[in-house]
Amino acid sequence: MTPQVWLITGTSSGFGAAFVHSLLARGDKVIATARTLSKISNLKDAGASILQLDVTSSPKALQKTVQEAVAIYGRIDVLVNNAGYSHFGTFEDATPKDWQSQFDTNLFGAINVSRAFLPHFRANKAGVIVFIGSAAALCGMPTLALYCGSKWALTGAAESLNEEVKSFGIHTLIVQPGFFRTELLNANNTTYVETKISDYEPLVNGNFEIFRGANGVQPGDPRKGAERIIDTVKGEGLAKGKKLPQTLYLGSDVIDQAKKRAEATLELLKEWEEIGSNLDV
Ligand SMILES: NC(=O)c1ccc[n+]([C@@H]2O[C@H](COP(=O)([O-])OP(=O)(O)OC[C@H]3O[C@@H](n4cnc5c(N)ncnc54)[C@H](OP(=O)(O)O)[C@@H]3O)[C@@H](O)[C@H]2O)c1
Repeated sequence: MTPQVWLITGTSSGFGAAFVHSLLARGDKVIATARTLSKISNLKDAGASILQLDVTSSPKALQKTVQEAVAIYGRIDVLVNNAGYSHFGTFEDATPKDWQSQFDTNLFGAINVSRAFLPHFRANKAGVIVFIGSAAALCGMPTLALYCGSKWALTGAAESLNEEVKSFGIHTLIVQPGFFRTELLNANNTTYVETKISDYEPLVNGNFEIFRGANGVQPGDPRKGAERIIDTVKGEGLAKGKKLPQTLYLGSDVIDQAKKRAEATLELLKEWEEIGSNLDV
């Protein structure tokens, strides 16, 4: 297969860095991006091209980055919207600014970066846009309303985009990972907002203890996860002969969760079908 050109956002750690190493090992061209270039000089040493890219930049600045990126190898085949962070805190404690910041990175960042690349993909009549969602896009979770909300919205936007552009030869893949051992839960990358409302204290204290305790012992290996995502996009390995799916659930934990959610939805439909039916004018 001819080498592909991939551009990845948020490559200073975790999945982003894992993508870069896996793709380089397969002989592909990689444009690794990060908001702080000095954090990814190691990826340049490993053979990637590097570019500064903060996903919360203005659409104009993102367009300029796209021009610079396309100029490096003459085209981009796959865009991976990977950058993200998680805000932990209750729905009620979070300020409008907290909500905005979470959505600016996890949702509007991915949307704006994708919009900036779409003219290039349409001109080429080809392209894959990967969106890294989360298990948090499957069900609401206490103290994770902001993160869940951003990833649910991202899922809906990405599915809709696929329907709009598939006839142009462009496809989206939404990856919903479970717990992977990255820097996501590291106190430097995560925003933990303690509650100011005593009613929530037991819930918040209990949940924060669980999430802080999970840092560094998450079951998933990001390098293996990145390999499976790359296989899925390329139709290689376990994905050989299969059509690109719209959604990839990544990790045994999220697969179990997705099955339980699907079963619970069927149960809910059975119990409430009568009250939700026979309502036509
Ligand atoms: N690990 C998991 O268990 C898990 C589960 C489900 C979903 N995910 C998703 O996977 C994606 C990657 O996260 P990760 O787990 O690999 O965590 P990570 O190691 O913390 O990596 C997150 C990356 O996003 C970057 N980033 C944050 N804000 C950015 C911005 N405004 N512009 C550009 N880059 C930015 C960070 O860069 P800086 O160094 O500049 O901060 C970092 O490189 C995220 O979308 C996350 O929500 C992870």
